[in-house]
Amino acid sequence: MHNTEFLIRQKRLLEKMQPNSICLVQASNLVTRSRDTEYPFRQDSYFQYLCAFPEPEAWLVLSNHQDYSKELCVLFCLDKDPAMEIWHGRRFGPKQAKQQYPVDRAYALDELDEQLLDLIDGHQHVYFAQGHDHDADDLVFSLLQALRDAPKQSKHAPSSLIDVRIILDEMRLIKSAREIDLMRKAAAVATQAHIRAMQFVEAGKNEYHLEAEIHHEFAMQGAKYPAYSTIVGAGDNACILHYTENNQGLKSGDLVLIDAGCEWQGYASDITRTFPVSGAFSNEQKQLYELVLNAQLAAFNVIKPDNTIKQASDVVIAVITQGLIDLGILKGKLTDNIERQTYRQFYMHGLSHWLGLDVHDVGNYKIDGQDRPLKTGMVLTVEPGIYIAPDADVDSKWCGIGIRIEDNLLITQSGHENLTLAAPKTISDIEALMSKKSG
Ligand code: GLY
Ligand code: MN
Ligand code: MN
Repeated sequence: MHNTEFLIRQKRLLEKMQPNSICLVQASNLVTRSRDTEYPFRQDSYFQYLCAFPEPEAWLVLSNHQDYSKELCVLFCLDKDPAMEIWHGRRFGPKQAKQQYPVDRAYALDELDEQLLDLIDGHQHVYFAQGHDHDADDLVFSLLQALRDAPKQSKHAPSSLIDVRIILDEMRLIKSAREIDLMRKAAAVATQAHIRAMQFVEAGKNEYHLEAEIHHEFAMQGAKYPAYSTIVGAGDNACILHYTENNQGLKSGDLVLIDAGCEWQGYASDITRTFPVSGAFSNEQKQLYELVLNAQLAAFNVIKPDNTIKQASDVVIAVITQGLIDLGILKGKLTDNIERQTYRQFYMHGLSHWLGLDVHDVGNYKIDGQDRPLKTGMVLTVEPGIYIAPDADVDSKWCGIGIRIEDNLLITQSGHENLTLAAPKTISDIEALMSKKSG
């Protein structure tokens, strides 16, 4: 993404902060996986959003202090170090970082404590995501204390510490045209991966084979990492919402539920498809599948500006509950069942969440206690499901069927655009695709 986009974001943040404020944002740090090895590095989403500098341990400092002739953005990053770089990889170092990233100044990390003390001095407010990282908290609190302890005429300590996430979360909730392009790409790559899994599935293979096919497609298209742990649940495993063992055999007659999305330049997709291992749905699977799909399509009708997620969620609850009554899985009247929430035995999660740099992206769902109306530029998932546990107290023909269908929707002026529309999901489209594979 071009640096202009980041400069616009920095400027908007500085405008939304109180006058005479400084903002401190810390990059992610490496996390040990086992002795001497780390989990793959993933940049902190706020840091990514503001400058996209791709290294660990860095700090970004933004000020709108009246004394700066223009607003100021400073990066602290690891210094160049040939010996360390031979072992651990290339570093930009401050000089090159300043040339390539949207910052006014860059310093080596060794200078952080001293420079930060001077930078914070004289500001009225500090914006910072306190509580996220103990070491970062310790550093910021100790600098504030040092300013308070300094002789009164030499230093001026800020009087308030404000959570910067309150501003950044609202900014991140509405996606720009460039962010939407990246999310379209993340959606397109994940769509191809789901198609690949549908074409590859076969009784006798294992859930991890499907996981590997999904990750293969991500990587071959340049999306190196999944946005979250891929879920491949066959048979009963589809009823475990966050199943990630992915190590059981695939049996003909079972459905397999795949919840998988990739990251494209930090932006997530989040798709779920459920399909039969054999390529053909059984009668019971068909009936429940149609119900979930109808519920999702009914929700789509109300996903548009000024409506709320709650409205869509209520529509889904009504469709699923009525459907479960019609199938004899729930008994009694619709209104009683909805009031008693009996559907929750079989549909126990929410319908939707924001999607963006984080798969469960930031942004409040309520404003002043009221459900927040949808606005152009928001991106959210719509993911109804029905999960009949293997030991559920219903006719055994339904037991062990788990189905979820999840798409990613962008709110547009006229309604919404389904970014993941190309991932097959009608029974006929899925069966047609799967029969091509075997034929
Ligand atoms: N993949 C996580 C979710 O669907 O929310
Ligand atoms: Mn989701
Ligand atoms: Mn998902």
